[in-house]
Amino acid sequence: MAGLSLKHIYKVYPGRTTAKKHPVKTIINKIKKKEEQKPAVEKRSGNFVAVKDFNMEIEDGEFIVFVGPSGCGKSTTIRMIAGLEDISSGELLIDGVLVNDVAPKDRDIAMVFQSYALYPHMTAQQNIEFALKLRKLPVEKKDKEGNPILAIDKKKIKELKEKIKAVEYDLEDAEDGEDAEYKQILTARKAALENDLKYYSETPVQAYSYKHMSKADIAAKVQWAAKILGIEELLDNKPAEMSGGQRQRIALGRAMVRGPKVFLLDEPLSNLDAKLRASMRLEIVKLHKELKTTFIYVTHDQVEAMTMGTRIVVMKLGVVQQIDTPTNLYDFPDNKFVAGFIGTPQMNFFDVSIKKYGTKLKITFANGQTVGYDLAKLRGIKEEYLDGESHEVTLGVRGEHIKVESTKVAGCIDSTLVVKEVLGNTTQLFIKLTEDGPDYIICVSERTGYESGDKIYITLKEQNIHLFDKETELSIMNREYGNN
Ligand SMILES: Nc1ncnc2c1ncn2[C@@H]1O[C@H](COP(=O)(O)OP(=O)(O)OP(=O)(O)O)[C@@H](O)[C@H]1O
Ligand SMILES: [Mg+2]
Repeated sequence: MAGLSLKHIYKVYPGRTTAKKHPVKTIINKIKKKEEQKPAVEKRSGNFVAVKDFNMEIEDGEFIVFVGPSGCGKSTTIRMIAGLEDISSGELLIDGVLVNDVAPKDRDIAMVFQSYALYPHMTAQQNIEFALKLRKLPVEKKDKEGNPILAIDKKKIKELKEKIKAVEYDLEDAEDGEDAEYKQILTARKAALENDLKYYSETPVQAYSYKHMSKADIAAKVQWAAKILGIEELLDNKPAEMSGGQRQRIALGRAMVRGPKVFLLDEPLSNLDAKLRASMRLEIVKLHKELKTTFIYVTHDQVEAMTMGTRIVVMKLGVVQQIDTPTNLYDFPDNKFVAGFIGTPQMNFFDVSIKKYGTKLKITFANGQTVGYDLAKLRGIKEEYLDGESHEVTLGVRGEHIKVESTKVAGCIDSTLVVKEVLGNTTQLFIKLTEDGPDYIICVSERTGYESGDKIYITLKEQNIHLFDKETELSIMNREYGNN
């Protein structure tokens, strides 16, 4: 079990065409300096910033979901945590220990991928126990009296010498570059490594011997995992004899028996059909409850994110958009992207102008109609938008927060029904405010008698109105209701 800390993590993939010696690190430093001017991820001289300034504290035992559209950097981030991908810049700590340079196998992390990657010629049992059989566990060496045996750690010294060599190599290259900040980082890193080398060369530390796990211990571990996953009957089967869901269970079992501090799951369910996905989703949530280990789960499916995560990280183009609980993401999206990404059907966005008038906020819609909303009932709005002037903003409201009125009541907006979709439990109405304007969606639980072309009067539930700045797309509202 472990907590994680991600501090200013960047991933830059070097461009293939660039002739520069160390483009990766130079580009990071440049980007860091230009942070404010360049909010989005960019391609520069062939380098590609896949993850930009990722910051997060993950508590022990949390179920974190990374969600976002394809290519937003979810896999890259999780692979950096696993150690399968170098961290270009920033710090990754597991239980307070810096692990940037720790090998994947020494990070106490298990990863499950979309492809199960089971060995086809091995049975389920053999697949699960394979890594355990290879693994040697450290045992503290003790003398006859039971006192710890201390020795100079030659392996550690060798590792440190190699790292120093690598930094020296980078430094040599940096000499002809203009980046003083980068050189400073390298010099500091070299000094720290040399310090460690001096310590380990002079100081005997606890010595370890390495032992394989006993057969009985391995069997007990496999049984334990098989029982939790409900795969005891499958242990003698080979992958080809199993369904996708069963194979993914075996892959989960293989991760579980290693007793990792952190589970990383990268779209583990995307090879399964919809029904199986839903049931496996539940299984994984149950597994998390049982194991109480930290889980980090990657998906591009917002429904999966909402139902599984204790906290969700929404990403776009390598940049974290919001880190929050599922309900907070739904109720208080920080920007238009999050608002549109979380929730199905997608939130409606209206181009409106707003103007404070006494205790009301007057909102004018594209069809020219103005509705006055009680400022006391809306979520708090940033002062600068309440200066009595008119401001062009984006109004967001979800389909379920639009009410269809049977008559023209006060505060209603006129619209025209374009299409009606009856889904059984709900009905979706697609409406327009103006002839050539965009469609908006309304979800109602009852079946309505409206037909295409009918006039519909709608009202917006004021407590569920979201307002975003048109340019920055950031929310201009806070989480509390009422305006001063
Ligand atoms: N080895 C690589 N070299 C160069 N660019 C890469 C490399 N791996 C990934 N990228 C780029 O980095 C970006 C992030 O990729 P990543 O795989 O993290 O996305 P993702 O969020 O997991 O997407 P998906 O949902 O499609 O799996 C993408 O634009 C991708 O093209
Ligand atoms: Mg991916």
